[in-house]
Amino acid sequence: MSIYMNNGATTWPKPECVARAMYDFLTGGGANVARGSASKRDLKSMDTVLSCREELVSLFGGWDDDPRYATFTANVTESINVVLKGFLKPGMTVLASSMEHNAVLRPLRRLETRGVRLEIAACDEEGFLRPDVFAEALSRTRPDLVILSHASNVCGTVQDLPALSAICREGGVPFVADCAQTAGILPLNMTELGLAALCFTGHKGLLGPQGIGGIVWNPEFAQKVEWFVEGGTGSFSHLEFQPDAMPDKFEAGTPNLPGIAGLLAALSWLRETGIDAVRAREELLGARLLTGLLSLPGVRLSGRRTMEGRLPVFAANFEGRDNGLVAGRLSEEFGIETRPGLHCAPLAHKTLGTFPGGALRLSPGYFTAEEDVDSTLSALRAILDS
Ligand SMILES: Cc1ncc(COP(=O)(O)O)c(C=O)c1O
Repeated sequence: MSIYMNNGATTWPKPECVARAMYDFLTGGGANVARGSASKRDLKSMDTVLSCREELVSLFGGWDDDPRYATFTANVTESINVVLKGFLKPGMTVLASSMEHNAVLRPLRRLETRGVRLEIAACDEEGFLRPDVFAEALSRTRPDLVILSHASNVCGTVQDLPALSAICREGGVPFVADCAQTAGILPLNMTELGLAALCFTGHKGLLGPQGIGGIVWNPEFAQKVEWFVEGGTGSFSHLEFQPDAMPDKFEAGTPNLPGIAGLLAALSWLRETGIDAVRAREELLGARLLTGLLSLPGVRLSGRRTMEGRLPVFAANFEGRDNGLVAGRLSEEFGIETRPGLHCAPLAHKTLGTFPGGALRLSPGYFTAEEDVDSTLSALRAILDS
């Protein structure tokens, strides 16, 4: 028996069409993009890349649905690095929250050593950033940029993006969202929210392969961000300097084309299935797991204790038990995959009061069966009874 309860790390399985599209790309096309003689194979690659950009701006409500403002990276970590290191200069101030993943914190700590001032807005013990607390932090620290994760990868708490982005808009501060955990699961419209940039990764809620992510940009903000990789773009080849035109500005070198083909298939699958259907399924599974977890003896659950304002990502500790050992037994004795420890988010665990021990994270996904949730709960009960 094998049960996958680690969708917070990466979703699995993927819709079948994802692997097929990658296989088809490599066997049926496989040409580089904008680096050929406009053969049929070249055009096919260009079409795949453009179609993927179009799906992205459509899914995330990109400015004027302009596909040039969706650029690719390897993952959301790279996306965040591109934005932060391309925008923040010595003397500037950046405001983040106490629930950030290391993908946000580590670049910011590095930038701090180069003269950027980092301010942290405190989330409550459930990992929620109260809009009034955020508004106070914003007016006190007067940042040049705000970056926040939309939802916690540790305990699933979802931030109030409309309220937070309205505060940023009022203060005239560009707002960048790390949507690693929410893209493909919660509706997102960056134009309505007024986001400066939306950073995503392909392999989580978007159900695509690993190694592909990106940024959807507000055009004005994109102009203010410097690229940090230079090289061939398959365009403006007469220039010895990096072109300023989008999307080339942020895309030097050959992109992960099989990854883009896989992501395109995943995005088409999501559009046909509907985000609402995905969300409804995840709510149902989450509610089932939450009710069961709360009934276990000696359980200490971090984050929200209802399904409101959360994703089905649960962080649990059990009285007198080491979460790493519980995870080991779940895996070895029951074939159940989870993730114990700190989840690349030490500051979030400090906020939740679970540092340095961390927690056992259980995260079902769209393809998890109800019986898998029940079997996981039975296995946990058996371990706790032993
Ligand atoms: C909130 C958040 N940000 C950033 C990341 C980093 O994602 P990736 O490894 O795809 O760059 C993750 C992954 O766990 C995450 O959950």
